[in-house]
Amino acid sequence: MAAMLADVEVGMRCAVNDVMKAITVRRVEAIGAQELAGLTRVLIDCVEGGASVSFMWPMTTAKADAYWAGVDASLKRHERILLVAETSEGGIVGTVQVLLNLPENQPHRGDLAKLLVARSARGAGIGAALLAAAEKAAVDAGRTLLVLDTVTGSPAERIYVRHGWQRCGEIPEYALWPDGRPCPTTIFYKFVGK
Ligand SMILES: CC(C)(COP(=O)(O)OP(=O)(O)OC[C@H]1O[C@@H](n2cnc3c(N)ncnc32)[C@H](O)[C@@H]1OP(=O)(O)O)[C@@H](O)C(=O)NCCC(=O)NCCS
Repeated sequence: MAAMLADVEVGMRCAVNDVMKAITVRRVEAIGAQELAGLTRVLIDCVEGGASVSFMWPMTTAKADAYWAGVDASLKRHERILLVAETSEGGIVGTVQVLLNLPENQPHRGDLAKLLVARSARGAGIGAALLAAAEKAAVDAGRTLLVLDTVTGSPAERIYVRHGWQRCGEIPEYALWPDGRPCPTTIFYKFVGK
């Protein structure tokens, strides 16, 4: 039985490694029709899966499209960095942003936001790859301090801890789950490129 379990585990590891080999992370300067379709699909999937990422149920294509239209306008004003993780066929399976439009007394800082991976693609290192790429892109943009908030106890919290982010503390009832229940948030920061 132990041997069988070990075989299954090795098989799963090969499968996720194959997934990662086929994934590319790239920066998006403007959201075209193909990107919009993929980003909307990922956002809706995450919210329908119960993630607390600004949206309530029912999640709709109209709400997602309007959100990404706002992101596109912001990209054109050079206010943020948008990255996507894509399969070799060009299908978007994950995304992350670094917000750069902060007050003039915080030119060294960025806010990490909307790290999202489609449920079918999770557990293969795509979230970690997006996070590492976002940190590098922030450094390339001259930022040395990144801040984020995430639901306390979520899988995202583990990624940030694993990547050296410092936990500041927890704020109860900070936001709502998509079904309306209140959820606590944890604030993290990380010095990057130092
Ligand atoms: C948080 C989120 C982005 C993580 O994405 P992901 O692609 O699953 O992240 P990773 O694959 O890098 O890590 C997830 C797990 O897979 C594991 N993993 C990664 N690569 C692996 C591999 N090759 N073999 C085995 N396990 C692996 C990681 O160790 C991690 O384990 P843990 O959950 O026990 O800590 C995703 O769960 C998500 O989109 N959640 C909903 C939205 C959300 O809450 N976003 C955060 C907003 S701040």
